[in-house]
Amino acid sequence: MNLLMTCLTLFLSLQASSCTQCKFPAIINFGDSNSDTGGLSATFGPVPSPYGETFFHIPAGRYSDGRLIIDFIAESFGLAYLSAYLDSLGTNFSHGANFATAASTIMQQSVPLNKGGYSPFSLQVQLSQFSQFKSRSLMISQKGGVFESLMPKKDYFEQALYTIDIGQNDLTDLFLRNQSADEYIPMTMKVFSDVVKEVYQQGGRYFWIHNTGPLGCLAYAIIRRPSSSPELDSVGCAVMFNKLAQKFNNMLNETVTQLRKDLPSATFIYVDVYSAKYNLFSNAEKYGFETPLRTCCGFGGGDYNFDFKVQCGDKRIEKACSYPEKSIVWDGIHYSEAANKWVFSEIATGKYSHPSVPLSQAC
Ligand SMILES: *[C@@H]1O[C@H](CO)[C@@H](O)[C@H](O)[C@H]1NC(C)=O
Ligand SMILES: *[C@@H]1O[C@H](CO)[C@@H](O)[C@H](O)[C@H]1NC(C)=O
Ligand SMILES: *[C@@H]1O[C@H](CO)[C@@H](O)[C@H](O)[C@H]1NC(C)=O
Repeated sequence: MNLLMTCLTLFLSLQASSCTQCKFPAIINFGDSNSDTGGLSATFGPVPSPYGETFFHIPAGRYSDGRLIIDFIAESFGLAYLSAYLDSLGTNFSHGANFATAASTIMQQSVPLNKGGYSPFSLQVQLSQFSQFKSRSLMISQKGGVFESLMPKKDYFEQALYTIDIGQNDLTDLFLRNQSADEYIPMTMKVFSDVVKEVYQQGGRYFWIHNTGPLGCLAYAIIRRPSSSPELDSVGCAVMFNKLAQKFNNMLNETVTQLRKDLPSATFIYVDVYSAKYNLFSNAEKYGFETPLRTCCGFGGGDYNFDFKVQCGDKRIEKACSYPEKSIVWDGIHYSEAANKWVFSEIATGKYSHPSVPLSQAC
């Protein structure tokens, strides 16, 4: 109690950094391409060049030119980058595992990836993989030696930080299939909540939950806005997609509030990634970025430099733009490393979180 009081007082006087720092020994992540560190790439074919060029200098299974927010989170705790659960080569799960895959949705989708649909690894599939990961990793550890060194320790499942970043693809799907958001989003919330409760049953206690970003600021959404609602806001983002994202986020925040009541011995931090990203798009120049809506690795020129038929990695795109460090949008759908780094540094402070707790103290 004393420690808590001290921390709170310090926190209020903006000296939060002198509070006790959390030592998460592992991170378990669920999500989509915003946090996929190689799952989809290992499964359905490698992410092509020039993805990865800025940091890894080769494609690294990530849909960016470099690191993702989840990589910066791992770095901040002194942990190695998360191995993808689906990656069978060279993986090390001693400090956690990543169940996210690009194109994942909360709701299981009926249209497969090769027909322009979604990842088969929906949130519930990721949960089932996590359950299996937990039971089998404990069995494998018992073999000792190198096997043990590649697996998390038993206690880590209670001590880990559980991060979740998913929903963006559900929103594009509900739009493309012309479904009612008022019917669809509550269904996603039920699944989301059930999955979190199951992770809790399996030991999870610390949850760091990202809401979904401003979809309407990404080229792939802007160019698809319907003629019935073509409005762009002062930043140039498609109003209808951002409204949809905000509707999802309001319900997600309510869902997390309810989870806090249902599972009082767990910690839930709801992170308003939407506002951080929207702030970046709105004040790009101030933060060292240029032409905020323009795709760095894209085709076609114009305001967005994005063409669905010729996307980043296509041979017709000879190279990415020469200023990825000044670009927010990497490939029209995903963020650049520079943007991810900026967003990480903002959300890690806690100023976009509810409750307003820095990442380093999310325990
Ligand atoms: C796996 O990673 C941990 C922590 O980074 C390290 O201590 C361990 O040696 C690694 N295991 C192998 C076999 O490389
Ligand atoms: C979507 O649904 C609305 C109302 O149900 C309908 O008016 C509209 O034509 C539909 N649009 C498409 C693209 O199917
Ligand atoms: C989320 O909900 C809480 C109430 O639980 C509220 O105080 C907070 O302002 C909401 N945050 C956002 C970003 O909507």
